[in-house]
This record gives sequence, C-alpha cells and structure tokens, in this order.
Amino acid sequence: MSNPHMEPQTDPRIALAVRGLSIFFGRQAVLKNVTLDVAAHAVTAIIGPSGCGKSTLLRALNRMHELNPGARMEGEIRLFGENIYSRGVEPVAVRRRVGMVFQKSNPFPTLSIAGNITVGLRLNGVRDKRLLAERTEESLRMAALWDEVKDRLHAPAISLSGGQQQRLCIARALAVQPEVLLMDEPASALDPLATQKIEDLIVELKKDYTVVIVTHNMQQAARASDFTAFLYLGELVEFGPTTKMFTNPSQQRTEDYVTGRFG
Ligand SMILES: Nc1ncnc2c1ncn2[C@@H]1O[C@H](COP(=O)(O)OP(=O)(O)OP(=O)(O)O)[C@@H](O)[C@H]1O
Ligand SMILES: [Mg+2]
Repeated sequence: MSNPHMEPQTDPRIALAVRGLSIFFGRQAVLKNVTLDVAAHAVTAIIGPSGCGKSTLLRALNRMHELNPGARMEGEIRLFGENIYSRGVEPVAVRRRVGMVFQKSNPFPTLSIAGNITVGLRLNGVRDKRLLAERTEESLRMAALWDEVKDRLHAPAISLSGGQQQRLCIARALAVQPEVLLMDEPASALDPLATQKIEDLIVELKKDYTVVIVTHNMQQAARASDFTAFLYLGELVEFGPTTKMFTNPSQQRTEDYVTGRFG
C-alpha cells in the first residue's frame, strides 16, 4: 500500500494524518483545507453544528464518501503512514482497516446475532468454525454484549433492544479486527442508560483501537474523548486536547460552541 514517491509518515503515535483535506459536492466546498492528526490508541471527538461537515470528514477517513457520486476531494490522508487514496489501494481494504458504526444501528435483519458478527469474516474467507466462534465471543465481549446474548446467539438480531443492536453493530465492526473505529453519533438514538454503556465502551476500546467519534453531545465529548476537533462551516476552527478545548479554548467560536451559546 505504500507509495514510494511520498515521504512516509511513520510516527506510530499517529493513526491518521489528515493533510489539507477539502471535499466538494458539486461546487460547494463542505470541508475546507482540514489538517489534523488522529492519535493512536486515543479517542478523538469531532464536534460542531449540524451541516458543518462532521460526517463528511469521518466518511473520508475510510473512503466511504466516494460512494457519493459527485463528491470530489483534495488533500491527503495517511493511515499509519500509508496514503489511503493512492492509486492501487482498494477502498474495501481501507474499510477493513478503518471500521464504521453509524448513528442508526443497522444489523442485518435476516441474520442471527452470531450471523451478524461472522458475516464479515466469512466474506474475508474465514471458514474455520472454531475460529468463527472464538471471534464471535471475543467481539461480543469487547462490545460489552456477551453476557446479555450468550444464551441466544442464534436468535434474530432484530430481537435485541435498540441499545443492544447498536452494541451488536460495534461488535460486528470489531470482528474483522480493524485498526481504527469510526463512530457517527453512535448513541444519539439511545436512552441515557444505553448511552452510558456505549460511552464506557468507547473508553474501554481505546486500549486496543483508535476511535474517532462524531457527537452532538458536549458532555459525551468531554467525558469520552482525549482530543476534540471543532468544525464550523467546513473549517477546522480548533483542535486540541479535550480538557483544553472545554476549559480554555484558544478561539472565541470554540468557547461559544462548547458553552452552548450557538449550534
Ligand atoms: N451526498 C451529498 N451531496 C450533496 N451535498 C452533501 C452530501 N452529503 C452532505 N452534503 C452537504 O455537506 C455538508 C456537510 O454535511 P455533513 O453530513 O458532513 O454534516 P454534519 O456535520 O455531519 O451534520 P449533522 O450534524 O446534521 O449530521 C452539508 O451542507 C450537506 O448538505
Ligand atoms: Mg452527520
């Protein structure tokens, strides 16, 4: 995947290096020259008002935005030093390394709980029953769902509660062992208790993964993340350690947003 013509960025502390990223839909620039480093084994939160480009930025990180015809990009994104947009890199390979969880849980409705977990592995050619069972348990444990479903692995996924379905989707994303997990408002459709579980899980996950989360919930960003990026009208207004962003931001617009004065 490496491109010999580019200076590789090999600092293992940086999972994703975003450089001068602009994204256009038609003539409209929805991201403008965004540069930031996503730290490995940390949680980075992306915050900002509706329509500022949070989902677009997240989707660029695993080449999902390409699924929009008419989207165009400038700039560069490196995953542990490798340019994920260089010629010859398959989007599918990038998405395997950089997994995604969406706002609305989307389990495969016709599959069982276990079937949802193993589907990605099967697509990758894993057939060994013992390995599939092991990976199922491991992923469900990591998503803090195992104890609730271990006796009903073959029940339909849609028999789970909303919060459980979202954790199932997290387990499904983890099953293929990505390096980075992207989450677009993963708890916004959940009640406070289920939200709490997802937040605890996010903090747990950074031991093994790099997590990037989009959230509208300021408390959630403050509690669960190590770094926060504030986007406004497609521009990265400020990016830094979460504690600083919430207690002593450098920009007035950041302060206004995190204190709820607009947005
Ligand atoms: N497929 C698309 N085609 C055209 N414009 C789009 C497309 N997807 C997003 N946009 C535009 O890009 C801008 C940023 O959208 P994006 O979904 O990234 O915002 P967001 O910050 O995630 O908002 P929200 O908080 O409401 O989810 C918006 O103006 C939106 O209308
Ligand atoms: Mg969005």
